[in-house]
Amino acid sequence: MAAETKRFRYGDPIETDAVMVEIPVSAGDPAGLKVDPGAKTMSRKMSEETIVYGLGETVRGINKRGWLYKSFNADDPHHEEGKNSLYASQNFILLDDGTSCCGYYFDHPGAVYFDIGYTDIDMMTVSFDDMDLYVYEIEGDTPIEIVREFRRIIGPSYIPPKWAFGYGQSRWGYKTAGDIREVADKYDELDIPIDMVYMDIDYMTDFKVFTVDPEKFPNTKDFVSEMKERGIHVVPNTDPGVKIEPGYDVYEEGLKGGYFCKKEDGTELVAAVWPGKIHFPDFLNSDARRWFGDKYKRMTDLGIDGFWNDMNEPAIFYTDETLSGVYEGLDKLRNEEMDIWGFFKFKELMDSIDNNPEDYRRFYHDMDGKKIRHDKVHNLYSFNMTRAAGEAFKRNNPGQEILLFSRASFIGAHRYGGVWTGDNMSWWSHLLLNIKQMPSLNMTGFLYSGADTGGFGADTTEDLMMRWIEFSIFTPLFRNHSALGTREQELYRFKRTDDFRHLIELRYALIPYIYDAFVKAAKENDMYIRPMAFDYRSDPNCRDIEDQLLVGDSIMIAPVYEQNAKGRFVYLPEKMKFVRFRSVDDYDVEILNKGNHHIDLALNEVAVFILPGHSLPMAKPAKRVGEIDFENLKYIEG
Ligand code: GLC
Repeated sequence: MAAETKRFRYGDPIETDAVMVEIPVSAGDPAGLKVDPGAKTMSRKMSEETIVYGLGETVRGINKRGWLYKSFNADDPHHEEGKNSLYASQNFILLDDGTSCCGYYFDHPGAVYFDIGYTDIDMMTVSFDDMDLYVYEIEGDTPIEIVREFRRIIGPSYIPPKWAFGYGQSRWGYKTAGDIREVADKYDELDIPIDMVYMDIDYMTDFKVFTVDPEKFPNTKDFVSEMKERGIHVVPNTDPGVKIEPGYDVYEEGLKGGYFCKKEDGTELVAAVWPGKIHFPDFLNSDARRWFGDKYKRMTDLGIDGFWNDMNEPAIFYTDETLSGVYEGLDKLRNEEMDIWGFFKFKELMDSIDNNPEDYRRFYHDMDGKKIRHDKVHNLYSFNMTRAAGEAFKRNNPGQEILLFSRASFIGAHRYGGVWTGDNMSWWSHLLLNIKQMPSLNMTGFLYSGADTGGFGADTTEDLMMRWIEFSIFTPLFRNHSALGTREQELYRFKRTDDFRHLIELRYALIPYIYDAFVKAAKENDMYIRPMAFDYRSDPNCRDIEDQLLVGDSIMIAPVYEQNAKGRFVYLPEKMKFVRFRSVDDYDVEILNKGNHHIDLALNEVAVFILPGHSLPMAKPAKRVGEIDFENLKYIEG
């Protein structure tokens, strides 16, 4: 049976533009869901065997069972198990009990709650604040068929320029053209391949979006082209908030055009983010979207051809209203005796300043004539920022390939850009989380994705960086990024730079394979990175493997994610060729039979398993993606 989608309508859904294929609305309810309009829930029993895949970028495992997830894009740098929301809302889930499977997409722009065996260990219950939505039920014989059908209806995934598969160095803290140049120089001195250096918020004048500080970057155009001549792309950060500053043209234009989000009383919402007080562009309005999108041309006119859209949940540090509420609360507390309850109240007040749910209810969107309160469509904000940029690139830079990825996301944004998984920590557990997030992101169409390699917050260690790189070699987006104030983690800061060079060279040698597998997955609505159980569904031993992944058609990977581990256990569902790489030319191979094995992997060694009947193409090492010879490849046969 070919996979098939049915669409069901509840209430008065807001059109999200997540789904591109028009599917007639069926009568009744989805066959597999018990719908309770009174309770605003949709539920389904799970058997002991059922694996629940999906939800894109979230905490916890590939199998989502046993937790409560809330789709409500959140600016929260603490990606811990106890959290319910991260930056993304990708409401696609797939239930597989080993013999039958079924997929659901809940097309709703507001909060969606997934209780997957949390309240009742055998039940999955999806609930909504407003049950106005389309539900897509997808039936098919296998998980991969269901994913392909889902991806068909949501439209093709974004394909970035080839150079965006290179290695990128970033850090919140590079301030000047000199800082950026120095990073490139140091990589070149050590012969470590690199294609991108990122510019975090400090390149702007007072954090004003679409400005470049003329003192820190005296001649940006020349600087960008100087870097490009060296084969290096500079990729700036773009935040949505527009600084309130009379005379700043983006602010003046936005105000005049009525492009900012307004409160109930018709005045613009004033929130604070990096620039201080800002207004938020109303990306849900097509005129505002076009206006903001066109502003990227200022940057592309400078020769810039890559962007990372940030803070677009949108993150709110505070609004005037929350701030005065907090001050009032503090004044009250000041006059009370600070007992333990007073102390808790005090702390609660301080914690309520940023990303306060009340603030998301304070402003409205003009969805082309329809006034809608922000919280009802919260998850569409970043999608439409990414779309503003993507549509503008098509309009203003026809034929040019531009790198674009975002922090927050919603299905639909996958057509315009990729995502990175936000402010993770330099923790071993976050390397494992990265491994688990990748297949889920791929299911939902976000193929161009990756995490801050080495970890963003907290201090990294040389061994964590090395092991993380050994995984990121296989993620389409490969960026080393870290936070202000943390240990510097450019690869030249460490001792074993030869090992780092060998590992990055290995990535570059594998780019022909990675790029081909990626483009094929994008064109055929397939997954570039998959859980083992997708390809080896009939092997019961594969059903709960969450730390080995299939990459493209030809290889399986098994990264090391434990500190001080000198190897790891792997399960092979069939005979495979194990390649233990130390560098492009230095590796040993061993045929391993189906079954459990312990493999030794020194700190500088990467495990790749070639599937029988397949081979792994490898290019000669190159310093830039543009220098890779895609024609003359050597092949390691499986
Ligand atoms: C946010 C981003 C992070 C960036 C920082 C400063 O925390 O997620 O990547 O470095 O803002 O722009």
